[in-house]
Amino acid sequence: MTQDKKLRLKQIAADIKQNNVCPDLAVTATNLVLGDGNSNADIVFIGEAPGKNEDLRGLPFVGAAGKFLNEMLASIGLDRDDVYITNIVKYRPPNNRDPLPEEKEAFWPYLVQQIEVIEPKVIVTLGRHSMEYFLPDQKISQIHGEPKRISFGEKKVVILPLYHPAAALYNRGMRQTLIEDFGKIPAIIKKINQDKS
Ligand code: URA
Repeated sequence: MTQDKKLRLKQIAADIKQNNVCPDLAVTATNLVLGDGNSNADIVFIGEAPGKNEDLRGLPFVGAAGKFLNEMLASIGLDRDDVYITNIVKYRPPNNRDPLPEEKEAFWPYLVQQIEVIEPKVIVTLGRHSMEYFLPDQKISQIHGEPKRISFGEKKVVILPLYHPAAALYNRGMRQTLIEDFGKIPAIIKKINQDKS
């Protein structure tokens, strides 16, 4: 089953290349950054787009923001192999500019496929770029840290909108808020498991 999920994720990466998604970004990027971690995870984290380090290594969140994310995972007893980490846009935008609406739009169907393969219980959006696709017309400053249960295709999934770790790195207040919001993850998972049984 897990092996099958890994193969299906590999196929999504192959499809992105085959379908020539965002050709301008593909030309300037070193690697396609599909995702990293456990294809059977209960929790999927979704950031914005790869940065320089991610582009070079072909893995999401391996720079400074990733180090902070790893620390927060450790603080709740998890590591990267327990979760799945990805971005809405899979190629690095030049000079780390914000992803364009049409770039997010172009990659959205592939993110949906990733989620359909992994079937997580919780989707943690990191920053507003991924939040706006799951919780449109909301302000992250107003809803961060509040889990919301939404319909996703045939299924229900809980979305936890969090601030982006890169934005919180050098902003003390936001950093503290992010750490506190992150700390809610175990209770959210526990509640989902209880509600199911
Ligand atoms: N910021 C993101 O949104 N994603 C990464 O992979 C790295 C930094």
